[in-house]
Amino acid sequence: MKINIAKSAGFCFGVKRAVDTVYKESSKKNVYTFGPIIHNDEVVADLERQGVHVINDSEDFKSLSEGTIIIRSHGVSKAIYDEILNAGLDLVDATCPFVRKIHRIVERESGDGRVIIIIGNNHHPEVEGIMGWCHTHPIVIENREQAEGIELDADTKISIVSQTTFNYNKFQDLVEIISEKGYDINVFNTICNATEERQTEVRELAKKSDAMIVIGGRHSSNTQKLFEISKKECSNTFYIQTKNDLNMEDFSNIGMLGITAGASTPNNIIKEVHESMAEMSFDQMLEESFKTIRNG
Ligand code: F3S
Repeated sequence: MKINIAKSAGFCFGVKRAVDTVYKESSKKNVYTFGPIIHNDEVVADLERQGVHVINDSEDFKSLSEGTIIIRSHGVSKAIYDEILNAGLDLVDATCPFVRKIHRIVERESGDGRVIIIIGNNHHPEVEGIMGWCHTHPIVIENREQAEGIELDADTKISIVSQTTFNYNKFQDLVEIISEKGYDINVFNTICNATEERQTEVRELAKKSDAMIVIGGRHSSNTQKLFEISKKECSNTFYIQTKNDLNMEDFSNIGMLGITAGASTPNNIIKEVHESMAEMSFDQMLEESFKTIRNG
């Protein structure tokens, strides 16, 4: 079995920056992240052991008299920043600069009286954060039906942004549907390059692989998207969180294996999966050699 690991597998720039920030702050007392720093149970548990706790609600920090709240790479709404500062707590902002850029765009564009359309999942924390920087209530859509259902006054001015991890082709499709309605539209492709690169690479890798392993947290939306793309090209695609989820029997007749990982998957987890598969490949090779020797 030949194993190919996607070059783009694992932590992106924004996640690495956020995780490094938390580890740096972890020597202080009373450090909290607002929501898990990344969608990865292993990393969150490790940080817990170092005394960094997760708070999930602004109600939780109202009861704190001191401490540091770290904003994760997804970012938060303007209201949350204000609440942290008004509570007299220290704020460390690890929002990915690409997400901050979207906050600035929607703040400016909605301030100019334009209706903001966010293409993304309205339950995703990044999208909730972006919504919280709009001066007026934004519209959030993620599929064709929702795009087709948009009905606004003919002279409405619209600005469209995207969740950073949204699928690029789907984004283009939805923008096209909205464009056909004839509004005055500003389109900001705010899909992060790291996501695009990872998605393009997984598509290419899946095309030439007999099986694919996609590693990432259960709740990581960018990993789920990688899985979707890979599954389309290679039906033998497996979604795992760690090497413990591997079922070696699934890979017994595989010639070419591809491995990729979501933006919140630490390198050591990718390495462990790679090592397990390499070990299996080595065992297969030995077995083949023995067979050849036995058969003379
Ligand atoms: Fe930032 Fe892109 Fe990662 S937006 S958090 S670098 S996927």
